[in-house]
Amino acid sequence: MNAEKKNTRPNHVAIIMDGNGRWAEKRGLPRIAGHRAGVKALRKLIEFAVEINLNVITVYAFSRENWQRPEREVSLLMDLFMSSLQSEVQDLHKNNVKLKFIGEKSSFSKKLQESINNAEALTSSNTGLCLNVAVNYSGRWDILQACRSLINKTSTNLDLKDINEEDINKNLSLVGFNEPDLFIRTGGEQRISNYLLWQLAYTELYFTDTLWPDFDADQFKLAIEWFEGRQRRFGKTSEQVKKVVQ
Ligand code: IPE
Ligand code: IPE
Ligand code: MG
Repeated sequence: MNAEKKNTRPNHVAIIMDGNGRWAEKRGLPRIAGHRAGVKALRKLIEFAVEINLNVITVYAFSRENWQRPEREVSLLMDLFMSSLQSEVQDLHKNNVKLKFIGEKSSFSKKLQESINNAEALTSSNTGLCLNVAVNYSGRWDILQACRSLINKTSTNLDLKDINEEDINKNLSLVGFNEPDLFIRTGGEQRISNYLLWQLAYTELYFTDTLWPDFDADQFKLAIEWFEGRQRRFGKTSEQVKKVVQ
């Protein structure tokens, strides 16, 4: 691709890892085999992200709406989540990756919550790639919990007009992170599925038909190149923002 570069590399990439079930079904395998292949794809992608010194990746692993799936799939997914966390955390730590989980964690088993907390604690001082994993996450829930925590912290005689966007920002799950620059959804659907609703306001949206287990470093490079060719205007005119990135 020879598109003119309008952007530097994205700082923060948000990914909806979709298409695991269809990947498995196409091969006559149970859906969980697709989820397992999905974990492998994520592992490879993280290795690549570390290699290219990417700053932040936020992946959608399980939505609040995903509880509505058949009980067996949900329970296998929870087992996979637990086993992957346990088998990967040391390697992630060695690679200087800082892990954070966003979403309503209290719905998970005590054991899983413990593993999540341990993984966050172990990697908390790491300075490399920040890997945020959205589990039992919903964008609407995030905004709602931000409002609740804001009201909870604020004095009762607060003047409503003193509440601003920054106050909401400070109470969202991704506090401290810049908004995603690039959003990638695999699996062919062109929707947000209740992901980072507030934070995606000005993110560049990239959709690909590739199913998540087939999404590799080359595909990721294509998405990054596509991003680099986008002109981000944030409401201004093209002329105002015109500048070629070397
Ligand atoms: C995404 O893959 C993973 C989760 C939602 C946990 P899917 O399981 O949604 O795969 P498809 O969309 O059915 O192919
Ligand atoms: C979004 O995928 C959630 C995750 C990838 C974790 P879904 O497969 O659940 O999304 P919909 O239901 O097709 O919108
Ligand atoms: Mg899906």
